[in-house]
Amino acid sequence: MNKQAKSRILEERRILIGITGSIAVYKAVDLASKLTQAGARVEVILTEAAQQFVRPLTFQSVTGLRAYTDVDLWGSEAHVLHIGLAESADLLVIAPATANTIAKLAHGQADSLLTVTALAARCPLLLAPAMDSGMFEHPATQDNLKTLEERGVVVVGPVEGRMASGLIGKGRMVEPAELMGHIRWVLGREGSLAGRKVLVTAGGTHEPIDPVRVVANRSSGKQGFALAQASLDRGAEVTLITGPVHLATPVGARRLDVTTANEMRDAVLSEVEGSDVLLMAAAVADFRPTKVVESKIKRRKGPPEVQLEPTDDILGLVASHREKTDHPTVVVGFAAESQDMVENAQVKLEEKKLDLIVANDITASDSGFAVDTNRVTLINAQGAVEKLPLMSKAEVAEEIMERVVALLGKEG
Ligand code: CTP
Repeated sequence: MNKQAKSRILEERRILIGITGSIAVYKAVDLASKLTQAGARVEVILTEAAQQFVRPLTFQSVTGLRAYTDVDLWGSEAHVLHIGLAESADLLVIAPATANTIAKLAHGQADSLLTVTALAARCPLLLAPAMDSGMFEHPATQDNLKTLEERGVVVVGPVEGRMASGLIGKGRMVEPAELMGHIRWVLGREGSLAGRKVLVTAGGTHEPIDPVRVVANRSSGKQGFALAQASLDRGAEVTLITGPVHLATPVGARRLDVTTANEMRDAVLSEVEGSDVLLMAAAVADFRPTKVVESKIKRRKGPPEVQLEPTDDILGLVASHREKTDHPTVVVGFAAESQDMVENAQVKLEEKKLDLIVANDITASDSGFAVDTNRVTLINAQGAVEKLPLMSKAEVAEEIMERVVALLGKEG
């Protein structure tokens, strides 16, 4: 049986989830489960109203830890419980957060274990409101949320959609997967890359032949997106330039979509100046059709002759830019090889004036395109060759980012 992949930013983090009375509690169960699977220690506090929808046992079953209620507030550990919970938490997430609890938090009321704990807590607070859209739009709720945001509380959602009343409006709690992204962002924002700008490219480019056909490659974008996430986890400001992929944007990343190698080149060159780091994970087409046929090539005319011409080497252009400006400080390239991997990657490292190159053997079935795992070899500018074992693309991204942080440190 495979072990669930842990996420470094969440592993061993103590996350306290406050549950208030809304039908969106079913999403909170999923959130508690996802956080636990990612390695976090999740404790839960339910309000009285929350218990009308769900029982503490539900949460205890998915987290393996205690789920507290107001009964515990008056129990034997009463005098220390809320202080202990508040002090030990790295993050307090209230999801779903009802209008009533939001009002109490804004005014410092402390009439339940959850609100007492929230008042005692000094860790970041993240709220995911869930309520009828009329209640959400009411000036009282809006004022309360504004007060909380001014105090540094992170408010995520609500979003538009169908609500429990059957009406469509803005009041639905955001989905657990998206909340996870916000949780990572809050936990990581003071990390080792805080204040640094990281530019990541991902996915393959598409070079048109005619209005319906393209010359493309098999890149899924997964490794590039994992790098964007690992940079965000360290507090970086991330711009993600991506070719056509089917992946959700990591929460907090600024995403720029491009299609062709030329568009990718223009986007990289316009973003690179302000960036501290460039992670060039995209599989940029090396060749494109010399001309794009304006109308669809008809089958009955037989196979067309497609002539190809080279595209610009984006990393080559970045190297020239860097000679003049010293920016970006760290440039990482990738080398997808089917033979003589280390030798070929070393040549690319030198030619493209990289600080680090990540080489992978695309002939292996458990590594490279489309799969979730990768087996890479890292080669730095000093010639050190480091062969990493098979790991998830998220883990590969962690390894790369550790080296990037060290390289940035060296440059000061
Ligand atoms: N790259 C680039 N511009 C291109 C092609 C590739 O900047 N037009 C970048 C890739 O994003 C990657 C690195 O160069 O980081 C190596 O890409 P790869 O396709 O492995 O190498 P090439 O230089 O294209 O050489 P070859 O295809 O002959 O192996």
